[in-house]
Amino acid sequence: MGFFSSVSHVFFDAGILSWDVLLTLLNLVRRKRRIGHVTPEGHPGYGGLWPEFRPPQEGDSRCSCPALNAMANHGILSRSGRDISFVDLNHQIRATYNFGPSFCSYVPHFAARMLKRSYSKDTFDLEELDLHNGIEHDASLFRLDTALEANQSMKHIPFIEELLASSTGKDKNDNNILTSRDLSRILGKRRAVARAVNKEFSLSFFHKIFGSSNSSTLLTIFGGRVDDLRSIVLHERIPEGWESRIREPYGLTMMHFNKTVLAVEFGVREGDWAEAAQEAAARHTT
Ligand SMILES: *[C@@H]1O[C@H](CO)[C@@H](O)[C@H](O)[C@H]1NC(C)=O
Ligand SMILES: *[C@@H]1O[C@H](CO)[C@@H](O)[C@H](O)[C@H]1NC(C)=O
Ligand SMILES: *[C@@H]1O[C@H](CO)[C@@H](O)[C@H](O)[C@H]1NC(C)=O
Repeated sequence: MGFFSSVSHVFFDAGILSWDVLLTLLNLVRRKRRIGHVTPEGHPGYGGLWPEFRPPQEGDSRCSCPALNAMANHGILSRSGRDISFVDLNHQIRATYNFGPSFCSYVPHFAARMLKRSYSKDTFDLEELDLHNGIEHDASLFRLDTALEANQSMKHIPFIEELLASSTGKDKNDNNILTSRDLSRILGKRRAVARAVNKEFSLSFFHKIFGSSNSSTLLTIFGGRVDDLRSIVLHERIPEGWESRIREPYGLTMMHFNKTVLAVEFGVREGDWAEAAQEAAARHTT
């Protein structure tokens, strides 16, 4: 069973990657979606009209990912955050954020594998995604490490405010924009400080790339727009009238995304934060 499922995973991954390359090429030759028509017709959010935002109630399930929590807060996923099917997650993420279909297929398959469930038949609760060092990992931009705060749906507001305040870019309408350098800088700080403060700190290369991927989502899907990010990351709410900044007809592919991820990851300089890390460690133990 173990052997056959590993083999089938290899074929599955190879299949997804080839599909992704094909979609990346199609995106180059097909016209972009028109502004105002990025969210597909008939899907919640079409024309910028998102279903009502309602904050979670006692007993609702949420996780470490602001973008998924926001979908539950708007009722695009079940408002309780429970009994979500992996298949539905795939389709809803795609329509809401315009990630490519290869991407949207890969992530729920990965989550189902991590939880040892069937992708096609089973469901999950949002909090189950926070299995430590599965998808969830240390040195988050938005959360304290699991060892310090087991409930990963709890926002750590000082981290979020620091992230939003760290933008150095501007667009042509003078909006504040987070840049890839801004994200490398703050990721370096989060890693150095978490390493110093959290005795159980761990961060594999795989999870570094995962973390850089989250960060890259802020740059691509959200275009780095700080006002939109404040809504999504701090309030877990989709801004009114919002649509994905990715207008490619086949959405954000993994191949395209990787360019941003690698730029962010290779820009991280943890060493620059040695002093900040020492100070944080000193404060933490007193
Ligand atoms: C990326 O997202 C996962 C899942 O929400 C989270 O656990 C992790 O800490 C995030 N990484 C960063 C660097 O924010
Ligand atoms: C986790 O925190 C949320 C608030 O972010 C709360 O509603 C929920 O009940 C907490 N879960 C647990 C298991 O304590
Ligand atoms: C993107 O990067 C990831 C992680 O480095 C890698 O596993 C994947 O094969 C890459 N995907 C594509 C389509 O280049």
